[in-house]
Amino acid sequence: MQVPDSFIDENKLAPLRGFSKLTKDEKIERILSHYLADGDERDAVQTLIKSFWHRDESLQKIFDEFSENTISNFYFPFGVVPHFVLNNKSYCVPLVIEESSVVAACARSANFWQKRGGFFARIIDTEKIGQVHFEWFGDKEILINSFNEIKKFFFLHVSDHTANMEKRGGGVRTLELLDKTDLMPNYFQLKGTFETCDAMGANFINTVLEAWAKLLKEFFAEDLNIIMSILSNYTPNSRVEAWVECPVTDLDDPNLEMSGTEFAQKIIKAVTIAKVDVHRATTHNKGIFNGIDAVVMSTGNDFRAVEACGHTYASRTGQYQSLTHAELKDGVFKFWIDIPMSLGTVGGLTSLHPLSKLSLSLLKNPTASELMMIAASIGLAQNFGALRSLVTSGIQKGHMKMHLVNILNSLNATDAEKEMVKKHFTTKTVSFKDVRDYMQELRQYH
Ligand code: MEV
Repeated sequence: MQVPDSFIDENKLAPLRGFSKLTKDEKIERILSHYLADGDERDAVQTLIKSFWHRDESLQKIFDEFSENTISNFYFPFGVVPHFVLNNKSYCVPLVIEESSVVAACARSANFWQKRGGFFARIIDTEKIGQVHFEWFGDKEILINSFNEIKKFFFLHVSDHTANMEKRGGGVRTLELLDKTDLMPNYFQLKGTFETCDAMGANFINTVLEAWAKLLKEFFAEDLNIIMSILSNYTPNSRVEAWVECPVTDLDDPNLEMSGTEFAQKIIKAVTIAKVDVHRATTHNKGIFNGIDAVVMSTGNDFRAVEACGHTYASRTGQYQSLTHAELKDGVFKFWIDIPMSLGTVGGLTSLHPLSKLSLSLLKNPTASELMMIAASIGLAQNFGALRSLVTSGIQKGHMKMHLVNILNSLNATDAEKEMVKKHFTTKTVSFKDVRDYMQELRQYH
């Protein structure tokens, strides 16, 4: 249904006090009475909101409690790449994404590379980072010398928090004091590095950092001002590399109007453009995150953290550039990605959201490192699929074909009309206007 225009009425915008304390029904009632005058409209919107509630109340309660002020659920499609070969193992990879062509592009790349040896990946490291940012107003030398003497107490002070993580093979790796006064007056930092095993580790790291901040204050009292303690989402040493490679002659394809070598050279040029031109780099990397985010979402991980980290890494030289690379050397074409990310397969939403749990079991309950390799490889697959279309047929042919069903739905096409339109556009380029015109023609004559 269409939400009426009167739903958003600027004149009625006023603080809704105590809103978060209301029950879900009361929240809906309050919003609707605040923003919608008409009774019929209100009933229709209320029905729409409630139609997306889960029929299992206990499950719905779990969804409600993932966030604040929840009134309903927002559905996203859950798709799969059923046969993705990575490190000689076949995975069924879940992808949660609304862009119709992404799953198809990943599946096509998976199929293409499966015939040429599949994807490979390795973990470079899994080090996480956290910082206590503070100001120091005393003598620098005193802070630096005393810190070295008392450093061991910082490890001891958090041993209650780290014991469990240490049992799993993780914990605090290093702790250092950094003088940042050249960047901001009086600015110092405690920088910790951590191993958080199969957890993304945000809660663990932030707890340790806050304990360290307290201890710093106890040691140095009035000469020190704590600004904040927080993990860094930029984890350049929690990094994964994924690649595909094959003899360039294996890229010969009768469906392409170019040889394997010409195709490889065009891909390499496309990647080079994404290294030297920031506008192209942004779109190029957006395509990579089409794939990565979809895996990250499906497994209940934090896609904002993964994107932020990847984009920072892409600008580490001072020039924002492609996260993928390509080369043709000694007759072998190689295409690879090198990307940092922090993922978890325990904790957070991973086991709370029934569909994240399902995603992880479809992936046969991977470790966090394995999930990093899967996500990076899917990003690479997505990028290969996009570049392959871009340097050959162009992107719109496939994109619009996938988008056809969305266009048909927006025109309220019946199943019979959909079939006729799809048949008509089998060999034609899809555009909204052409589909609409053809539908009009159909409706006139049938
Ligand atoms: C669209 O979501 C993603 C692409 O634009 C990526 C690219 O251009 O490489 C197709």
